[in-house]
Amino acid sequence: MEYRTAAIIGSQWGDEGKGKVIDYLASCADVVVRAQGGNNAGHTVVIGGKKYALHLIPSGALHPGAVNVIGNGVVVDPAGFFEEMETLESDGVDCSNLFVSDRAHLVFPWHRAIDELSEGRAGSGGIGTTRRGIGPCYTDKAARVGLRVCDMLDAAAFREKMSARLDAANEIIERIYGAEPLDKVSILDLYAGYAERMVPLIADTGAIVYDAVTAGKAVLFEGAQGTMLDLDLGTYPYVTSSHPGSGGFIIGAGIGPRMIGEIVGIVKAYTTRVGAGPMVTELTDATGDAIREAGHEYGTTTGRPRRCGWFDGVVVRYSARINGTTGLALMLLDVLSGFDELKLCRDYAHKGETLQGFPARLDVLGACTPLYDTLPGWKSDITRCRDFGALPEAARRYVEAVEEITGVPVKIVSVGPDREQTIIREEVF
Ligand code: GDP
Ligand code: IMO
Ligand code: MG
Repeated sequence: MEYRTAAIIGSQWGDEGKGKVIDYLASCADVVVRAQGGNNAGHTVVIGGKKYALHLIPSGALHPGAVNVIGNGVVVDPAGFFEEMETLESDGVDCSNLFVSDRAHLVFPWHRAIDELSEGRAGSGGIGTTRRGIGPCYTDKAARVGLRVCDMLDAAAFREKMSARLDAANEIIERIYGAEPLDKVSILDLYAGYAERMVPLIADTGAIVYDAVTAGKAVLFEGAQGTMLDLDLGTYPYVTSSHPGSGGFIIGAGIGPRMIGEIVGIVKAYTTRVGAGPMVTELTDATGDAIREAGHEYGTTTGRPRRCGWFDGVVVRYSARINGTTGLALMLLDVLSGFDELKLCRDYAHKGETLQGFPARLDVLGACTPLYDTLPGWKSDITRCRDFGALPEAARRYVEAVEEITGVPVKIVSVGPDREQTIIREEVF
C-alpha cells in the first residue's frame, strides 16, 4: 500500500526552514509527528507577518485540524513544554490536539545544569550546545537510568525515582564540577505539578501514528536539527545526541521503515551552522556577514549569530545518500538576491586530490578546501514570485545547479519567511 506520509528532514546543520515547510504542508496533514531532539530545536513559522517560534510542539499546531504527536524519541522538558504551550495559547493557538509519548524521556533541571557546567568547563573547546540539557538526558537514556513520561503516571513512585536521580546528579554537580547542589524539595514539587498537567496528554503515540498511517491518513514527520548533527552520521563529536536523519523517524516515532513515503530534504540556498565544528564553506569575511544580515541568521533558540557560508553540495549530496531523499525544498533563496556572483561547492579538495564521499575524520574535514562553481547573481526582489517561471533567469539557473550538484530534484523553492512565499514545482505530499 502507498502511504500518504512524508518526512521533513534538515539536510545541513539545522535551521534550514523545517518549521516553515511543515506548516505549509500541514494544511493537508492529519497528523504531525516529532520523533527526536527536544527544545534545542527552534522552528519558525510566519503567517501573515506574525511569527511563531516552536521548540517542542510540532509545527502542525498552527493548523487546527491536525493531531500533533511528540514521539518516543523526543526528550521532553516539561518546563519548556508548558511554557511554550502557554505562549501559543495566549496567541490564540489551540494546543488541545496534542499527545506525548509515554516512552519519551524527561529532561530535568540537573540535565540542564550538567550541560551548562560541562560546556562552561570546556570553554572554547566545547561543542557549543544549546544548554537545554539534551545531551545529558540522552546520556541517561542510553545508560538506562532515565525517567520517562510514563513514570509521571504513578505520583509516589515518580517522586522516589526523581529523588534517587537527583542524588546521583548532585554527586556529579558537587564532586566533578564543584558547583552548588540542586534543591530537592522544590524540584520534586515542581515536577509533581508538571506530572498532573501531563497526564491527560500521555498516550501510546506509536499506536496513534500506526493507526493513522494504515488508515490512509496524511502524516508528516517533522525533523529537528539536521543530518550533519546526527550522532552517528554527522560531524562527530560536534553533533547533537539524537538522530535527525531519516533513520531517526523509525525508532523515534515507533514505526516500520516502509511507512515513510516521501523524504523531503530541507536545505538553505547557502549554509549555516550554529555551535562549534568544521564547516568547509564558511565565510568569515564581509560576504559571510552580508548573508547573515540579509538572512537574519541569529538562532531561534539561543539568539547566537549563525556561521554563514556558500551552499555546500558535498554536505547535501551526503545527506541525500544517508536519508534517501526524494526531493529538496530550497529555502531562503531571496537572501541571495543582490550578490554579483554566487558560489556553490561541488567537491572538496584534500591534499591536492578531489575527495570522494564525506570524511569521518575531522582533521581531514578541517583540512578540506571547497571547489566552487561560480554563477551570476540576480538583483531583483524575488519575494513576490509565486511560480518558478517568474524567477529571474539567474535564480532559475541557481536552482538547477543545486539539482545538478546534489542529484536531487528541487520540488519546493521558498522566497520569504511567510507561509505564502512558497513556490511549489512538484507536489511532495
Ligand atoms: P528550522 O529550525 O529548520 O525550522 O529553521 P529556523 O526557524 O530556525 O530558521 C529558519 C529562519 O528562516 C526562520 O527565521 C524563518 O522564518 C526563515 N525563513 C524560512 N524560509 C525563508 C525564506 O524562504 N526566506 C527568508 N528570508 N526567510 C525564511
Ligand atoms: P533546529 O531543529 C541548529 C546544535 C547546537 C550544537 C549541537 C549540540 O532548530 O534546526 P545540543 O544542545 O543539541 O546538545 O547541541 O547541535 N543544534 C542545533 N543547531 N538547529 C537546531 O535545531 C539545533 N539543535 C542543536 O548548536 O552545535
Ligand atoms: Mg531552528
